[in-house]
Amino acid sequence: MASILFATSGLASAEILPEPQTMGGQPLMKVMNERKSSRDIDPQSTVTKQDLSNILWAAWGITHDGKRTIGTAMNRQELEIYVITATEISKYSAEDNTLTVVNTGDFRDISAMQDFAKTAPINIVLVGNNEKQKMAEFQHYAAGAASQNIYLYCAQAGLKTVVRAGCDREKLAQAMKLDPAKFNILYVQTVGK
Ligand SMILES: Cc1cc2nc3c(=O)[nH]c(=O)nc-3n(C[C@H](O)[C@H](O)[C@H](O)COP(=O)(O)O)c2cc1C
Repeated sequence: MASILFATSGLASAEILPEPQTMGGQPLMKVMNERKSSRDIDPQSTVTKQDLSNILWAAWGITHDGKRTIGTAMNRQELEIYVITATEISKYSAEDNTLTVVNTGDFRDISAMQDFAKTAPINIVLVGNNEKQKMAEFQHYAAGAASQNIYLYCAQAGLKTVVRAGCDREKLAQAMKLDPAKFNILYVQTVGK
């Protein structure tokens, strides 16, 4: 399905992602067995919008009763998810299944300290919102759960991924237009083929 662009509030434009595919896939036990970190990501590889939608839903999608694919302490739902590509940084909204551009340009180099990630097609930034959850350990728990879901989706979809603590958080916060007092950049997860 082609992605669609629409204008929001006259400023940013939001891209509607394909509907996440929440049925099917390979058996869970097999996928857990195949989960691994991969760094040999081809810079020329691409991730389809359908895979990206599925990945973002796996990480932070809404399931039932307003809950998510992962649990959060006291249901604070403190994660925010951004996607860095070669051309822009976008913020994911699970509520309307969109990506909204927050900055344009190639910021992959500041999302990474390792070369493979600077050229990978997708880097997903897991961010904690201090206003929703001030306990850093609970934010990290949520990021770990989201990260594992990304790993599992990638294992079953034949994609390569690795979660990374290594990034320039100060420069990344600036590029992502985040107030560091309000938001913690927790991890960046690279995805490609
Ligand atoms: C909290 C955390 C931080 C990590 N940071 C990095 C990183 O900055 N760069 C990297 O290449 N891998 C990073 N990894 C991936 C680990 O190196 C990897 O999970 C570990 O070697 C085990 O390999 P496996 O994931 O294939 O089982 C990180 C993993 C975790 C859980």
